Amino acid sequence: QDGDAANGEKEFRKCKACHMIQSPDGEDIVKGGKVGPNLYGIVGQPAGSQEGFKYSDALIELKDSGEVWTVEDLAAYITDPNTFVQEKTGDDSARTKMTFKLNKNQADVAAFLASHSPE
Ligand code: HEM
Repeated sequence: QDGDAANGEKEFRKCKACHMIQSPDGEDIVKGGKVGPNLYGIVGQPAGSQEGFKYSDALIELKDSGEVWTVEDLAAYITDPNTFVQEKTGDDSARTKMTFKLNKNQADVAAFLASHSPE
């Protein structure tokens, strides 16, 4: 089902402690923390590929598995990051550095992120 980007923008408040959305020309679309990677352009981008961010081994494994973020996979990841990465990589011991889980409106957040993904 298609998400509601406007509702996702509100829900993204929960992500801001750790993530910003900043365009390549330096525009702050959403001001946020640096605990997690910048999420500008995440839809259509390979997992674990934000320049300069130090990812966990789990996210590197996910990248190496060929994962490219889709709205569906973003919604699944934010529901339960560890389970998502474990299922995608087949490595039950994979642990991400993202401890947060979103239990509602996941598709809306994914639609909001897609609205800031130019490709
Ligand atoms: C990674 C989304 C909340 C910390 C990621 C990634 C996405 C994401 C898509 C993977 C990025 C990539 O492959 O480049 C979100 C969304 C959130 C949220 C949509 C809100 C619903 C949070 C919160 C924290 C956090 C609240 C901190 C408490 C991290 C960290 C990583 C990460 C540390 C890197 C994971 C690793 O290297 O294992 N997040 N996140 N996130 N996020 Fe979040």
